[in-house]
Amino acid sequence: MNKIAILLLLFSVLLFSDTLTGKKVFETYCWGCHHQTAMAFGPPFSQIADTRTKAEIEAYINSPKSMYKAFGYKRTVMTQLHLNAKELDIISDYILSYKGKQ
Ligand code: HEC
Repeated sequence: MNKIAILLLLFSVLLFSDTLTGKKVFETYCWGCHHQTAMAFGPPFSQIADTRTKAEIEAYINSPKSMYKAFGYKRTVMTQLHLNAKELDIISDYILSYKGKQ
């Protein structure tokens, strides 16, 4: 009985911790500078999705300072963030979900 209770508890903790979404990562780290489809301080996600691959997007978030020249910028003012692999994966899929949406 105790083992089952522990298993159930573990299972619900797993379910709960799995609710990290792209929207949450966006609202926590990007919203002040990027909007989904409108130009803000940084370019809209729809424009990024139309021009970049997932690998490029992850590389940029990981290190704007080493990527900005390759992306055609003269300088970078984007914050150096420290997202973990899961957050990176989720936020780049979220950006790509705006492909073709103006
Ligand atoms: C302090 C403001 C700021 C924050 C916070 C920020 N960005 Fe940016 N971002 C910019 C600006 C401005 C640019 C344009 C180039 C530059 O300055 O680096 C940019 C560029 C980018 C690019 C490359 C755009 C291209 O040309 O394709 C990506 C991808 C990107 N940001 C993703 C994100 C994501 C995802 C987050 C949140 C996890 C985020 N940024 C947080 C300001 C910001």
